[in-house]
Amino acid sequence: MLTGKRIIVTGAGSGIGRATSLLAASYGAKVVCVDLSDGVHDTVVEITNSGGTAIPITADVSDEAAVVDFVAQCTQQFGGIDGIYANAGVSGGGKTLTELTVADWQRTLAVNTIGVFLAIKHSVNHFVSQGHGAIVCTASVAGLRANAGGVDYSASKAGVISIVQTTAYQLYGTGVRINAICPGLIETGMTKPTFDRARERGSEDKIGQINPAKRYGQPSEIGEAACFLLSDRASYINGHALPVDGGLSASHPWVFPRN
Ligand SMILES: NC(=O)c1ccc[n+]([C@@H]2O[C@H](COP(=O)([O-])OP(=O)(O)OC[C@H]3O[C@@H](n4cnc5c(N)ncnc54)[C@H](O)[C@@H]3O)[C@@H](O)[C@H]2O)c1
Repeated sequence: MLTGKRIIVTGAGSGIGRATSLLAASYGAKVVCVDLSDGVHDTVVEITNSGGTAIPITADVSDEAAVVDFVAQCTQQFGGIDGIYANAGVSGGGKTLTELTVADWQRTLAVNTIGVFLAIKHSVNHFVSQGHGAIVCTASVAGLRANAGGVDYSASKAGVISIVQTTAYQLYGTGVRINAICPGLIETGMTKPTFDRARERGSEDKIGQINPAKRYGQPSEIGEAACFLLSDRASYINGHALPVDGGLSASHPWVFPRN
């Protein structure tokens, strides 16, 4: 599905980004794996041990110079760039409205929203000049409706959806596509505290029960959607925010049946 594609994945050291990097490599892509954490090296070792091609880059997606550098690394080491998955994100810590500080807001927006903007800004000229390219960004169901994160996190993800919609039009007629994925509850490093708490209480089986799929999701289930959107198979999907959430965001509030 991605044979010969040169793709950058941010947040590749854990969770959704790691799963997507592994899948993209297994579908034939050469992957630039970017993360702030050293976990990115483990991701690359796993890919190369399976016969794939990937390079690790430790970088902060909110640092503009670092973004310029990892895009350049892709073009220099792989001879070009065909797609980018701007996926790195932080939860913001789930503070309440009154607990949140301006500094909290600035960090959440810097990574989740401005980090996405910078990834687009510094890859898009390559895509436009070659007349093709696919950009995928991780938003969240939190960017669609309430109750999936704090105010800062939810606003940062609504911002990602808006960036995707606006950018699709700014890329009018260029042949470049941009889409967002809105994951529901996925078991990753970010949600580990939720899962740990439930396991301690013995209520793990309750996680995901209000979802029509009646379960939480796995990182690879987001990775499959990301690889599809990065591929030419998604050639007419553009400017879209795709929930990959087991149906969670489909409903009005409802009463959970307790019988
Ligand atoms: N897990 C979920 O339920 C869920 C739901 C909706 C959206 N998301 C989004 O999915 C994306 C991936 O998160 P995940 O769930 O895989 O969590 P995760 O914590 O397992 O992975 C996130 C990765 O991003 C990296 N990262 C954080 N800040 C960074 C920065 N400034 N520069 C570079 N890398 C940085 C982390 O080091 C980590 O490896 C995030 O954007 C998150 O908001 C997750």
